[in-house]
Amino acid sequence: MSQNSKSGDLPLLFQPITIKSVTARNRIVVPPLCQYSAKDGIANDWHLVHYGGYARGGAGTIFVEATGVEARGRITHGCLGIWTDEQAQALVPVVNIMKQHGAVPGIQIAHAGRKASSQRPWHGLSAMNAADAARGEVPWEVVGPSALPADEGWLVPKQLSEDEISDIVTAFGQAAARSQAAGFEALEIHGAHGYLLQSFLSPLSNKRNDSYGGDLAGRMRLALEVTKEVRKHWPDDKPLFFRVSSVDGSADGWQLEDSIALAKELKALGVDCIDCSSGGNAASATVNLIPRGLGFQVPYAAAIKKETGIMSMAVGLILDGPQAEAILQAGDADLIAVGREIMYNPFWAVQAAQDLGIDEGFEMWPEQYGWWLEKRERTFARMGHKR
Ligand SMILES: Cc1cc2nc3c(=O)[nH]c(=O)nc-3n(C[C@H](O)[C@H](O)[C@H](O)COP(=O)(O)O)c2cc1C
Repeated sequence: MSQNSKSGDLPLLFQPITIKSVTARNRIVVPPLCQYSAKDGIANDWHLVHYGGYARGGAGTIFVEATGVEARGRITHGCLGIWTDEQAQALVPVVNIMKQHGAVPGIQIAHAGRKASSQRPWHGLSAMNAADAARGEVPWEVVGPSALPADEGWLVPKQLSEDEISDIVTAFGQAAARSQAAGFEALEIHGAHGYLLQSFLSPLSNKRNDSYGGDLAGRMRLALEVTKEVRKHWPDDKPLFFRVSSVDGSADGWQLEDSIALAKELKALGVDCIDCSSGGNAASATVNLIPRGLGFQVPYAAAIKKETGIMSMAVGLILDGPQAEAILQAGDADLIAVGREIMYNPFWAVQAAQDLGIDEGFEMWPEQYGWWLEKRERTFARMGHKR
């Protein structure tokens, strides 16, 4: 793939961006998208085709889905893991195919905490039960800051001791080291959506009265210890992202001011970009519902960037190139993540280029396709047919 004009002539969305020593060809990011298709945490052909497809479709950076730092930390039996060398090794072809097609390969490392041991969405999206066990997928003990379930009918987590917390911090560091060894060039810590780190951050789920709970500093302690440990094992010259739930969406929950305070601390620890999501502290999507509309989380990315000076990534209902470009032009974010739209159309990135008036000659497409598609366009023009 090539870009046929100088960066300055390109829409911002298609200008390359360099973070530390890593340059992405554009500002389009595929955010982590769980596939629930691994066995024993090990990637397979599905992952190769899935991630390779987004790279071939022109995305700049691609984050492999939430990948468990320990077995208990997977959301479902189908989630990827990176707590063994074998699991990391299975991700090497996935890394390579993303690189071959010009994308920066990233990975999100995660611990699902009290929302672990869940069903895949298509099996019910609730805590696993006897029906799952009958299929051979046995529930496991889940852990969290306090013995409070994520929702009615969900497993009651075991409250983690300080020693157990320390083991999890170590596991995040080891996962970062394995990610580096597998060839990933960007790393994201999952600090959102009610999974372990966010469940410590939020006063809705963290009722501890030791040094990992109580005030904001106590609740942030685990996220900051994990970040410090990850930075130790992740090269200084490679970008580190942290995904936040910018708000819980509840008056007595985590607020945007808390995210800003956290982002300042993360920046000081060497985090390069805050990925600004929201919600998820309770398992049910109907609890703490944040009203959704086009780009509904963009104001969080804008506020965190403005208040802290750190790079931010906008995500959530960003549907097309012009909408993405307007967010960048307004200075509201540095990167644009596109999830479900890119699942719907893995060629979203190169089509966004055309929607923004560049690449009419299909030069950003893989040459195997571009040559034909350019002729198809000329045929359409002769026919007077509009796409
Ligand atoms: C199938 C699917 C899987 C997801 N898996 C993850 C995940 O592994 N980690 C995460 O932080 N967010 C996950 N998300 C949230 C997305 O990264 C993204 O924030 C969300 O889909 C909103 O963006 P969109 O409106 O462009 O889809 C997932 C979303 C979907 C649809």
